[in-house]
Amino acid sequence: MIRIEHLRKEYPNAVPLEDVNVEIHDGDVIAVIGPSGTGKSTLLRCINRLDTPTAGHIWVGDVDVTDPKTDLGKIRQKMGMVFQSFNLFGHMTVIENIMVPPMDLLGKSKQEAYDEGMRLLRMVGLRERGLNYPDQLSGGQKQRVAIARTLAMDPEIILLDEPTSALDPTMVGEVQAVISDLAKTGKTMMIVTHEMNFARSISNRVFYMDEGGIYEDGTPEQIFDDPQKENTRRFIRKLKVLELIIESRNYDFHGMVSEIENYCFKNQVNPKITQHIQLAFEETIQNLLLPVLKSPKIHTVVEYSSDDEKAVMSVFYNGDRYDHTEKADDLSVTVLKSAVSEITYVETDNEEFKNKIVMTIKQ
Ligand SMILES: Nc1ncnc2c1ncn2[C@@H]1O[C@H](COP(=O)(O)OP(=O)(O)OP(=O)(O)O)[C@@H](O)[C@H]1O
Ligand SMILES: [Mg+2]
Repeated sequence: MIRIEHLRKEYPNAVPLEDVNVEIHDGDVIAVIGPSGTGKSTLLRCINRLDTPTAGHIWVGDVDVTDPKTDLGKIRQKMGMVFQSFNLFGHMTVIENIMVPPMDLLGKSKQEAYDEGMRLLRMVGLRERGLNYPDQLSGGQKQRVAIARTLAMDPEIILLDEPTSALDPTMVGEVQAVISDLAKTGKTMMIVTHEMNFARSISNRVFYMDEGGIYEDGTPEQIFDDPQKENTRRFIRKLKVLELIIESRNYDFHGMVSEIENYCFKNQVNPKITQHIQLAFEETIQNLLLPVLKSPKIHTVVEYSSDDEKAVMSVFYNGDRYDHTEKADDLSVTVLKSAVSEITYVETDNEEFKNKIVMTIKQ
């Protein structure tokens, strides 16, 4: 068990952790989520003492890791950390990377370290790769080796800080699968992630971090479906709903396309639907609305539901009643119809945004 009491961490220009108090139970798998800069990495680094807390206590079992007399080497043996970047030794083979820490730090024999290393490589799906060097592996494979290396020290607690965020999207799944398997083994884990479906599927508990600490602590169902506090609600809503606001002709088109990509990535929207959303956005805004609106104000809202993989894009715009879909012979409308399965136009009562189009994105 980890018990954190009045933990505070100050940096010269920021106080990410003001007063953190929490108990983490054996076997808890905790997803740590929240906006950037709210101290998620700082919390993990304080727990394994890569950072020194300004005040407060962190008990791991009956050892106070904040006590200056505590042996940091021992603490870090109990706690493995997996980072965004893998930090494998480039001059050693994969199996050597995994064998060396337990031989050096736990005094294991070469044979023992080898047997255990091979077992772990099989576990992360890389049994054939022991004799390769890290630069012969893909990013996803390197990260799986890094996880195996962490496990080789047989830690009681595993801390993972955005373990998949440096990976090419095609490799995220294989690493997430390894982490999910690990989560089922009953190890205590804390994982910082921005991938919410993943967070939800592996954890039994979620910390939403904000305002200097753990702002809301609950089950995944609570945090994702029924958050109790204002900031959590806003954060979760923003994840689920993407809003793109255009107030002038000189808007950042490429920025918005990459916001769509980002949103789709976080919500694990499949590549085909992502492409359809981008196409629907581009055709509607660039080719159908901007050429005809005098002083354009366009608000686009994208909502995706992972249950039925349904994405809906609603576009609100100003000006007189104008149904762009009536221009049915226009090439853009034809292109648009390749990305959406249904288009409805509605004239609204809203003074500013008289026009609304709702599009169901093709799957
Ligand atoms: N070594 C440091 N020196 C000074 N300030 C730091 C240091 N590390 C973090 N900070 C500051 O502390 C705050 C919290 O940083 P932290 O990295 O914990 O955030 P985070 O929640 O992990 O964010 P992200 O989601 O972007 O990774 C930030 O304002 C950051 O600038
Ligand atoms: Mg971080």
